[in-house]
Amino acid sequence: MRIGVVGSGYVGLVAGACFADLGHDVILVDNDQQKLASLKAGVVPIHEYFLPELLRRHSGRRLHFSDDLHEAVRSSAAIFIAVGTPPTDSGDADLSYVESVAREISGAVNDYKVVVEKSTVPVYTSEWIRKIILRNGTDPAAFDVASNPEFLREGTAVTDFLYPDRIVVGVDSERCASVLRAIYKPLTDGTYYQRQDAVPQPDRARIPAPIIVTSTKSAELIKHASNAFLAMKISFINAVASICESVGANVQQVCQGIGSDTRIGPRFLNPGIGYGGSCFPKDLMAFRSVARECGYDFRLLDEVMKINEEQRQRFLRKVRSALWTLRGKRLGVLGLAFKGGTDDIRESPAMLVVQMLLQEGCHITVYDPAAMDRAREILNFRVQFAENAYEAASGADALLILTEWDEFASLDLERLNEKLKYPIVIDGRNLYQPEFMAEHGFTYYSVGRLPAIPENQPAGAGGILRNNYKKA
Ligand code: UGA
Repeated sequence: MRIGVVGSGYVGLVAGACFADLGHDVILVDNDQQKLASLKAGVVPIHEYFLPELLRRHSGRRLHFSDDLHEAVRSSAAIFIAVGTPPTDSGDADLSYVESVAREISGAVNDYKVVVEKSTVPVYTSEWIRKIILRNGTDPAAFDVASNPEFLREGTAVTDFLYPDRIVVGVDSERCASVLRAIYKPLTDGTYYQRQDAVPQPDRARIPAPIIVTSTKSAELIKHASNAFLAMKISFINAVASICESVGANVQQVCQGIGSDTRIGPRFLNPGIGYGGSCFPKDLMAFRSVARECGYDFRLLDEVMKINEEQRQRFLRKVRSALWTLRGKRLGVLGLAFKGGTDDIRESPAMLVVQMLLQEGCHITVYDPAAMDRAREILNFRVQFAENAYEAASGADALLILTEWDEFASLDLERLNEKLKYPIVIDGRNLYQPEFMAEHGFTYYSVGRLPAIPENQPAGAGGILRNNYKKA
């Protein structure tokens, strides 16, 4: 099938490359000439596993880049809108890019088209897209509008797309449903997974991929409600972690206990310094705002956002309880990305913590495996950038772990200990076991677990109960 994808951001680029891998002919449209030129030159603008391979495999063959939306619409059976929907000052999603694409599509419809919204948008957007296309003179029989939300996570976007938990297709006519079913057929009939050159299967893949067909409004709500629920799970466990800290319980044990109830499940129950990224913070505000407009006061979401903010403040208090005063302290920081496996620093809790510590007068040396180039624009001259974790730790009063990169979970602890001025680690992502760190000579603070200190150190501030972590 011939497919047009409008917008070459995260969702558009990944979707375009993956549709090409499913065997479709894809035109990826963007009006940013610089971006187009670098995509044509083979530059991969985001850090995403398998994306470079797919772009190499399909660019110039099944995947073309263009600035001509008109032509893309004329030659495609389905046009996916994947443009940005940034938040406005009031927290609503700004849908002006979606509207202008809908207007342009209208002038180019030459035979039956399916216009698919793939950006994260509030309920009623597909109705508005339909109205805009009609208002600009298109025959109502010549198109349908569908909602096909994307559930991919940054860092695993390609495998999330090709091995989804579910494909949600919101349609209001059978004709439109059949076009979307045909597009996803290689995933839903499993033929993609039999191919030798298929992107490798991740753990827990559901094969063949299930497809759920709903109304457009339900599909729009599924997207917002899914993200809100996941964020709620994170805030919930962060709240439970705070209670664990107060009473001396271990949040990991609590997570194991509650997560093994299949109705709850163990995933997205990792406490930390709060959620960030370009999706959860923005989508929660947008969902809150849509609910209000629809007459429902979704106060639960306010609390989810409030707990998330407080989690960073709690972490700062932890740093203070470990180091007493902060002004002039040298800190090594591991992680700037909003989560491991990505170079994205948008709404990153790690960046926010670094900025709060700078305000407190700390001197910071940071290391992140992928996000430093992006962070430089914001933090330049205010922090030092290190080549690796050990350089970041060198001479520091304490080491802070702010992003859950795999490589931070397997550091050479002896080397780290030698580099630090004081062997203190404050881990905002629970990458280590407290007793293990104490055995390796570290005073170790984490989230929702008691701090641990090595046997030869005096018990310090912050209620450290040494005996809890004595070797068995
Ligand atoms: C999120 C959703 O997980 C995707 O399903 C969705 O498609 C995407 O938003 C979107 O709407 O586009 P993403 O923002 O890439 O994906 O990142 P997540 O893996 O969900 O992590 C979000 C934040 O939550 C990160 O800061 C992460 O560190 C934090 N997190 C995640 C926790 O603190 N604890 C957890 O247990 C899981």
